[in-house]
Amino acid sequence: MSNRLTVQQIGDKKKEGQKITMLTAYDYPMAAVIDKTGIDIILVGDSVANVVLGLESTRDVGMMEMLHHAKAVSRAVSHAVVVGDMPYESYQIGGDAPVDNAKRFIDEAGCDAVKLEWFEDCLAVTEKIVAAGIPVMGHVGLTPQTAEEFKVQGKNSVSAQAIVDQAKALEAKGCFSVVMECIPDRLAEMITKKLSIPTIGIGAGPYCDGQVLVTHDLVGLYDAFRPKFAKRYLEVGTMMAQGIEQFHQDVINGKFPSKEHSFSINDEELNKLNP
Ligand code: KIV
Repeated sequence: MSNRLTVQQIGDKKKEGQKITMLTAYDYPMAAVIDKTGIDIILVGDSVANVVLGLESTRDVGMMEMLHHAKAVSRAVSHAVVVGDMPYESYQIGGDAPVDNAKRFIDEAGCDAVKLEWFEDCLAVTEKIVAAGIPVMGHVGLTPQTAEEFKVQGKNSVSAQAIVDQAKALEAKGCFSVVMECIPDRLAEMITKKLSIPTIGIGAGPYCDGQVLVTHDLVGLYDAFRPKFAKRYLEVGTMMAQGIEQFHQDVINGKFPSKEHSFSINDEELNKLNP
């Protein structure tokens, strides 16, 4: 845990002109594989709702599920910064609850930072969480927890200006980075040049300081919805199906298990038995 990158080092990467990589993970084995590759940030995203739990909306997961998955990821990660995605209604609420919930990601689940999606009161809540000493990653553009429609944001000057203003305000409130989801590439470029904190794009073109993908989209383990921006590098789902089908056939045909996968007992011991 102590060898993990820090949020300061993520900021330094922007200053040094190095790209930042971020992927989602929700369990121990996936996090372990990702961490070994040297990816900079692992997000325990609320996309777990869709790609792991088979739920329709990211609104359908709460603190209990997110902490459960974040704990598993934290156990596996020794290199990347682990970011816990705060679930719907864990921070869009008044009082001390947003800070208390953010603290649970750090203290109970071993995360290094939390991520919040933009909403009306986002700046006040971000300020409180940052003041409590917890690093915050912002999220602007398409914000699935509160979006009415899943479409590209900031296509006209009024909505684009709103996104610019939100990103700048999040930086001013102390966010260490900001995710920009589904916005035009040249708007993302403009914001990236304006901010001194890193921008991490998803469907925001090539000019961001870093890129994030949902790992299940990248490896081909989720087919219910294929976003245009998600490049598929592997067909793991197909590979798994081939292996499982082979197992099924081998058992039916008596090819598995063979001697190689069995344990032996010597004749003397076996002959003493009275079946
Ligand atoms: O939950 C998630 O996977 C996310 C990414 C899309 C950034 O928020």
